[in-house]
Amino acid sequence: MEGPQSSTPASLGLLLLLLLPLGPAWYVAAQRCPQTCICDNSRRHVACRHQNLTEVPNAIPELTQRLDLQGNMLQVIPAAAFQDLPHLTHLDLRHCQVELVAEGAFRGLGRLLLLNLAFNRLSALPQEALDGLGSLRRLELEGNRLEELRPGTFGALGALATLNLAHNALVYLPAMAFQGLLRARWLQLAHNPLSVLAPEALAGLPALRNHFPSVPRAAFPGLGRVVSLHLQHCGIAELKAGALAGLGHLVYLYLSDNQLSGLSAAALEGAPRLGYLYLERNRFLHVPGAALRALPSLFSLHLQDNAVDRLAAGDLAGVPTLRWLYLSGNRITQMSPGALGPAQELEKLHLDRNQLQDVPTWALEGLPALLELQLSGNPLRTLRDGAFRPMGGSLQHLFLNSSGLEQISPGAFSGLGPELQSLYLQKNHLRVLPALSDLSRLELIDLSGNPFHCDCQLLPLHRWLTGLNLRVGATCAAPPSARGQRVKAAVAVFEACPGWAARKAKRTPASRPGARRTPIKGRQQGADQVGCGVGGPRPWWVGQVLKPPV
Ligand SMILES: *[C@@H]1O[C@H](CO)[C@@H](O)[C@H](O)[C@H]1NC(C)=O
Ligand SMILES: *[C@@H]1O[C@H](CO)[C@@H](O)[C@H](O)[C@H]1NC(C)=O
Repeated sequence: MEGPQSSTPASLGLLLLLLLPLGPAWYVAAQRCPQTCICDNSRRHVACRHQNLTEVPNAIPELTQRLDLQGNMLQVIPAAAFQDLPHLTHLDLRHCQVELVAEGAFRGLGRLLLLNLAFNRLSALPQEALDGLGSLRRLELEGNRLEELRPGTFGALGALATLNLAHNALVYLPAMAFQGLLRARWLQLAHNPLSVLAPEALAGLPALRNHFPSVPRAAFPGLGRVVSLHLQHCGIAELKAGALAGLGHLVYLYLSDNQLSGLSAAALEGAPRLGYLYLERNRFLHVPGAALRALPSLFSLHLQDNAVDRLAAGDLAGVPTLRWLYLSGNRITQMSPGALGPAQELEKLHLDRNQLQDVPTWALEGLPALLELQLSGNPLRTLRDGAFRPMGGSLQHLFLNSSGLEQISPGAFSGLGPELQSLYLQKNHLRVLPALSDLSRLELIDLSGNPFHCDCQLLPLHRWLTGLNLRVGATCAAPPSARGQRVKAAVAVFEACPGWAARKAKRTPASRPGARRTPIKGRQQGADQVGCGVGGPRPWWVGQVLKPPV
């Protein structure tokens, strides 16, 4: 059968319609579409996907710019395999079972921008396999079996910006592996067993190779313009002095999921623009404070899921520029007063899933810009008066969910208020909670998953929520008559409380600023008389009763 093969008669019709006026040119193009392919000559695309092809079909239109051959069985890409297609800009050879790319396989493809060789079976690349690709911007080699790269493999790729080598079997990169990549911006090496990255290390320490894998000095020559370097899941236990030397444009360094337990300043030198350092899931016992001095532009430090057990004074002394600090999922029990102080510009602090038994109020002093504080998943149990006072002026988002909270002092949030927009208190053990009337800017408060005890103790909260006009998720767990009702809706319980009537009476005068204090004393006796079930010292909710509704 002649002519373009099309998956649907409709698109064939469309194609014919588009190409009809071309007359003889159409005929030529039609002649040249291989049977197993779909040729969209108007867009210069040819797709021959999943056809079990064992070689590149001939008779592909010469003007083709995009050729999609994914899902075939090519196995070998012979020399000059595409020499009749000099206009190609995109070549897709994914999932083609390719085991060998011959020297000069892509010769003649001087206009190619994207070459996708991902998910093949390449275990090596001959020295001149990539010759002739002087315009290539992006090379995908993810998911092959590459074990090593020879010096100069990428030497002809002077325009390459993105090189993806993730999920290979690279254990060894010679010093000149990336020579010639003058424009590389994004280098992906994640998921490779990169125990050693240069011949020096290998030569000196062959026996120790598996025990002391390391990234040696000047491991990345010729990568002066790389902005983003991906080294996750590479088995790296040590960065040697100078390992980052020459990475003058590096902004993002991904070292997550390795075996690092420390870093030295000497190891981080040479990357003065580094802003984002990813060290999640390593083996750090401390914040590598001294090393961070080598990073004058550090903006975001990711240390989640390590084994850091404390924050000491000086840990952040070297990073006055730090804005975001992620320490979730460590074992922090202690934070020294002023431990964070040097990071004056800190905006986001994540301390969730640690072992803090108390809000580290004094460690949080001196952070005038703090916007977000994550403390959820710590065994806090109670919140003291003034626990957040030092950051009251700036804090917008406070996470205290799943913190085993049983009790919150009436003054716990004092000082907070002018900026606080969201407060997460869900999944705690709160039976009672003071009204949080000072938090006048709240846009989100989550109180779900708490066993609120809906009796007169909770009247201030009920009253505050009634005026709040937000969905908060607070429900009564007791008494049985109110179980499952929203605290806001359980009016029947609260209208029996004496404060209920007082509120109606006080509504107007309470809105005068001076009127707040005076009535409290007067009502205190009234509240005591209700007998809300607590004897002894005056319970905190007495006096709260008369706070004006919002
Ligand atoms: C490719 O080969 C497989 C397995 O032999 C077969 O199931 C499939 O139908 C073939 N596909 C085409 C397009 O010939
Ligand atoms: C706390 O709540 C936030 C927002 O709902 C959620 O993303 C986070 O995972 C919670 N933290 C814990 C430790 O449960």
